[in-house]
Amino acid sequence: MAIILGLESSCDETAAALVTSEREILAHCLAGQEEAHRRFGGVVPEIAARAHVDVMTPLVAQALEEAGLSLDQVDAVAATAGPGLIGGVMVGLMTGKALALAGGKPLVAVNHLEGHALSPRLADPGLAFPYLLLLVSGGHCQLLLVEGVGQYRRLATTIDDALGEAFDKTAKALGFGYPGGPAVEAAAKRGDPGAVPLPRPLLGSAEPHFSFAGLKSAVLRARDSGDHAADDIAAGFQAAAIDCLIDRTRKALEIAGDVAALVVAGGVASNASVRASLQALAAEEKIPFVAPPPWLCTDNAAMIAWAGAERFAAGLVDPLDFPARARWPL
Ligand code: KG4
Ligand code: ZN
Repeated sequence: MAIILGLESSCDETAAALVTSEREILAHCLAGQEEAHRRFGGVVPEIAARAHVDVMTPLVAQALEEAGLSLDQVDAVAATAGPGLIGGVMVGLMTGKALALAGGKPLVAVNHLEGHALSPRLADPGLAFPYLLLLVSGGHCQLLLVEGVGQYRRLATTIDDALGEAFDKTAKALGFGYPGGPAVEAAAKRGDPGAVPLPRPLLGSAEPHFSFAGLKSAVLRARDSGDHAADDIAAGFQAAAIDCLIDRTRKALEIAGDVAALVVAGGVASNASVRASLQALAAEEKIPFVAPPPWLCTDNAAMIAWAGAERFAAGLVDPLDFPARARWPL
């Protein structure tokens, strides 16, 4: 059994976790920065980087203490090396390199997207390759065929906004503030999804790509018309976005052929309506559906430690001069 220390700092969550190769989560510690960014209505990269510096090292100490472990007992250090806000990525990666060097441990440089992509296997021991993954986060909206550790085939991506970004912009437009996703989900529960007619971009198109910019503009027009309640616009937005997700995912399943499961991950996967709709699609297609628990969908270090464990088991370790990358396609 191997024990992996995972570090995450690519956006606005600082996190450290200890996870074993047997899927035991020994500790997972997280410090959000919502208060620091709220008055700006979104994440300010420079403020985020400074906040990561303040809390990353204490969080590592806290995780080791919660697990009752010392650095000596850790087998490898996994840190997010990108993609993300570069100042933040550098904080976690440099901390990981320092711990690896000081402790004489191997470093595993983890792609944040791979963290999301493999997180369902931490939650569900039975999930085998290949699976079709809908990865929906603040920065990405992709359909990936996950064929193995390090083997990802991208079937589709967004041609403009990521879905999480569209949730955040909708929240801002409707005055719900930051962070936006959970606020739009709550408002959508109160609203009528049929009250505001909104477009479903790319619905029915041959390639399973996504587009959300037109939907976002339609939300702004609906708001500016003054004819609709904010809760109804939120409900209409969420319903339109989900229709797009289901149509595009159905198309990707057709292209992918035989898969072991339909899987969803990333921050938007914590949305209950998104999960329920994908579950219904999987049932219709007669394949299993896997979604990690909501806390494992939004950014955290347990998924980075787990991706580190999977890579470490495959002999994939990295040199100490591995660069931090703002952009790093999977
Ligand atoms: O995966 P994540 O934590 O960070 C990135 O890697 O981007 O995803 C964050 C995104 C944000 O855009 C946030 O608004 C969205 O996930 N999100 C949600 C919900 N919770 C978080 N979107 C819809 N419904 C939610 N409940
Ligand atoms: Zn993420």
